[in-house]
This record gives sequence, C-alpha cells and structure tokens, in this order.
Amino acid sequence: MRLQLDDEVSVDGNRRWEGSIDPALRNEIRRRRTFAIISHPDAGKTTLTEKLLLYAGCLDVAGMVRGRKTRRAVTSDWMELERQRGISVTSTALAIEYRGHRVNLLDTPGHQDFSEDTYRTLIAADCAVMVLDAAKGVEAQTEKLFRVCARRKIPILTFVNKMDRPGGDPLKVLGEVEEVLGIGAAPLNWPIGTGRDFRGLCDRRTRRVSIFHDDAPGSLVVPTTDGDLDDPSSPLLDAETRASLLDEIALLDVAGAPFDHQRFLRAEVTPVFFGSALTNSGVEAFLDAFLTLSPPPGSRPSDGAIVPPDRSGFSGFIFKVQGNMDPKHRDRIAFLRVCSGRFVRDMEVVNARTGERLRLSRSHRLFAQDRETVDEAYPGDIIGLPSTGQYRLGDTLYQGDRVRYEPLPQFAPEHFAVLTCRETLRRKQFAKGMEQLVEEGAIQTLSEPDGGGRQQILAAIGPLQFEVVQARLESEYGVSTDLEPLPHTMACRVEGEPTSTLRMPLGSLRALDRSGGVVVLFRSPFDLDAFRTRNPDIRFAPAD
Ligand code: G4P
Repeated sequence: MRLQLDDEVSVDGNRRWEGSIDPALRNEIRRRRTFAIISHPDAGKTTLTEKLLLYAGCLDVAGMVRGRKTRRAVTSDWMELERQRGISVTSTALAIEYRGHRVNLLDTPGHQDFSEDTYRTLIAADCAVMVLDAAKGVEAQTEKLFRVCARRKIPILTFVNKMDRPGGDPLKVLGEVEEVLGIGAAPLNWPIGTGRDFRGLCDRRTRRVSIFHDDAPGSLVVPTTDGDLDDPSSPLLDAETRASLLDEIALLDVAGAPFDHQRFLRAEVTPVFFGSALTNSGVEAFLDAFLTLSPPPGSRPSDGAIVPPDRSGFSGFIFKVQGNMDPKHRDRIAFLRVCSGRFVRDMEVVNARTGERLRLSRSHRLFAQDRETVDEAYPGDIIGLPSTGQYRLGDTLYQGDRVRYEPLPQFAPEHFAVLTCRETLRRKQFAKGMEQLVEEGAIQTLSEPDGGGRQQILAAIGPLQFEVVQARLESEYGVSTDLEPLPHTMACRVEGEPTSTLRMPLGSLRALDRSGGVVVLFRSPFDLDAFRTRNPDIRFAPAD
C-alpha cells in the first residue's frame, strides 16, 4: 500500500521514518506527478504524450522529439535497429511543467516485443494512465502491463481513446475493463455520440454537458459550448439525444462502479475518461482531472521502515541501467528515481549494496540521447547518473541513516534462445559482454548444467531483446554470435535443491539460474501440468 504525503500513521505496524517539516521540500513533493502510460501498440500513447507536451507549452519540444529521433538513428548501429523497426527501444523520462505541477512522464518502449524495461519502469511510477482504443478495448499488451501495476497497487486512470473513430462502444469497454482486468471502472465523463457523431462529453459529477464546436476540429483548445444536462430548455441537445444520454447516465448511476478517491489510490477502481487524442477532444479535461486525482510521490517500503518522501535525507533507487546511450562515450547511464529528500548535484551518498561512498558530481536529465545537467531534484524526479559499473539495477543510494529499498522484481520470461559465441578466441569478450548486459537488465540468462560456457540460454520477455543483445555484443565487444530460438514459452524455478531426479516431460529443459538454482523450461502450460503430476514433491518458487 502507498501512503500519501500527509498520512502520519504507520502501516501494518511498520516503523516509519520521521518526515521533514521543510515547507519548500514538501511543496516540491506536493506538486509532482510521476507516471507512465500503459497501452497496447497503436492505442495512442505517443499521440497523447505529444498532446501533453503541447498543452504544457512544449510545442518545440514535441517537434524535437521527432528531430532527435532521426538524429539518434544515424549515430549508432544499435539505434539503427530502432530505425529499421520503426520502434523506440530506449526509454526516456520527460519532465514537464504543467499548470503549476511538475509532471514526470516515464516513457516506455512501446513495442510489444520489448517490455521488460517497461515493466521495470512501472516500479518507478506513482501512477499510470491506461490508454485504450475505444474499438479494441483491453488488448494483450495492456493486460500484461496492467497486471504489473496491479501487483504493486499502482493507481490507474483510464483514457478511452479514438472516440472519433467508428466501432467504439463505451459500455463494452467498461465491461471489459471490469471483467478482464478485475478492477472497478468508474466513468467520470460520458461521451455524447461515438465515431462521426462524437460531439461532446458529459461530466458525470457536475452533470455539465460540453459540446465541441464543429468549426474548429483538432484545434489545440477545442472550443465547447457548455450547458446543464438537467435543463430541458437548453438548446445544446435535441430531445432525443438528451433522453438517451439521461438513460445512459441513469444506468451508470445504478450499475456502474462508484468512484471513490481512496479506492482509486488503493488501485481498486479506475476513473475512466473518453476522448480523442488526435482531435484533442476531451484531452484537456482528462489532463486536468489527472492532475487533481493522481497522487504526488508517496512513501516507499525499505528493508528497515517505510520511507516518506519528506524524509529529510536524500534517497532513491536505480530502476534501469542502460549502455550505449552515446556511442562516442561508450558509457552507461543508471536511471535513479528520487524517493526522499532533496538531491543536490555534488552531494555525497552511500550505495546501500556496497557501502561505498560516492560523490554524485555528474547528474543528467536525459531526453533521448541529449543530456542536460541537473543540479537539484526532488522525490518523483528521474535523474541519469553516468556509470562505470558502480551501479546495479535495484541499488539504493542514500544520505543519512541507512535505507535500502526493496529489490526490483524479476519478471517471468516467455522467450528463450541459445546464444553461441562464433569465434573461440572471442570467448572472454563474450563472457564480459554478457555479464554487463545481464547487469544492465537487458536480458536474463540461464545455463545448461553441462553447457561449458561457450553458450548461454537467453531468457526474455520479448524476442527483440535477443536482437538487441546480439547487436550490442557485435558493436560494443566485437563478438559475433549465433542464436537458436528454443520452443519453450515459460520457466519455473524449483524451490530448494530437488532431492530426487526430476521426471521431465518430453521437450522440457532443465537449466540453472545465475545463483545455481534449478529452473525448468516448458513448451506449454500443459507440459507444466504434466511436470507437476509426475513430480508431486517439487515446489515452485513463487513467480512475481
Ligand atoms: P502508440 O504510441 O500507442 O503506438 O500509438 P500512436 O499515438 O502512434 O497512434 C497510433 C495511430 O493511431 C496513429 O496513426 C495515430 O495518428 C492514430 N490515433 C491516435 N489517437 C487517435 C484518435 O484519437 N483518433 C484517431 N482517429 N486516430 C488516432 P497512424 O496512421 O499509424 O500514424 P500517423 O501517420 O497518424 O502518425
């Protein structure tokens, strides 16, 4: 459970650090919103992001998004992969000033093939915006990302996009959210018409109706004429439209999930908004509601106590380590989410894992490949720290009394392949490259018990991760590799040391994880069931 800034009580009897009374720090925390967008490719994440940039007055920046992407694509082989595929492999954290708030948007790789980073990035967010295509509802990638948020109880706002396109059925989308995702869906506004007839929205809480002006489709601030739903004399709606809108709203009042802010913060209900990111209809209303409803950075559990964001000492954790940000420098960047206190450049901190003291003299905000020095940051902010190997995924950096945040979860891989080093003479470089890529979290690895070291079993959330690993081994370590995909689709960790010989279904594979634990790979859930039946004494380690 997440605590809000002003909750003074402890949770579940856990000790809680004393908060600071520094009003400037508290003010900076209160005005911050750190979120990620979860969606299936093509639902409209990029369009909505660009609209946020537009409304925040960063029009030039929106233009620069494209410009920089193009420049980036020609500077590195690895980035070439992105260009060829037309996808974004690297993630960026955007920091935007919007209506007195500092909004940090953790942008995440959008392609369905590359989602382990996306998963990890969600751990650094305080809330998420789920973008759904009105005609397609809850799609596969959305569901996976939703599950990661739900496990961590991250509050989610829903934007049902593309209402201007035919085929959208608002009631069906709500039903899907509730049935497939198992969360209450509470529409806070309701569309008036769909497809070509989508001409306005009704705010359910105020019962105000806003009709978009026809003469300015797609303008940044869509002009509307507003009126009262319950005023029969209002010329805004004809009698038929008004009657059916009243019916729909009455139905929602009776059958729909009620909205309750506390339940939203506990991730039990999602407020739902309708609109069209492309034509800007409903976007501004959504962004304003987002600022009002979404939580500022909250407390986070550490191994000793709950750490409130206003704890006076700085602390944060590394949720992503990325190499090859700039091929000229060959360095790596560790992305840190500030969780408490004030970050000031040049400050001395301790890495909780190693006990090592570090001076943070170089700190960046990153926008794709471009860097800007950050002198000060607050809870919710993301900073990039150049790394020569001193940071690992999940590391906590802190000042003052020791803090160590919970380790980052590992996500269950769904794709496996054997990677072999082509030239025996390059085996040392192969091992070093793999070590670094694993440390960065670019890939998980397993080994065959008698594999000998020339080959590794790569385990990934999406197969594109394999290509990235091969491309980076080639460009950064000069190692050519061969990849042989395996037919397995799931892995289970066997708890403890199996006492008896494992009775394996045909086609399944026994492997070892990096700490020597036994992992069994299966081709299908059916094989897993067969394995359970044949080995009744085996216990599986719980999946995340
Ligand atoms: P993604 O980041 O989630 O993958 O989606 P993105 O925003 O790139 O949108 C995917 C496609 O859907 C784009 O069209 C985009 O213009 C369109 N789109 C997004 N929001 C809306 C909306 O509210 N209404 C309608 N009608 N379309 C929308 P595209 O043809 O693939 O790309 P483009 O040529 O427009 O850039």
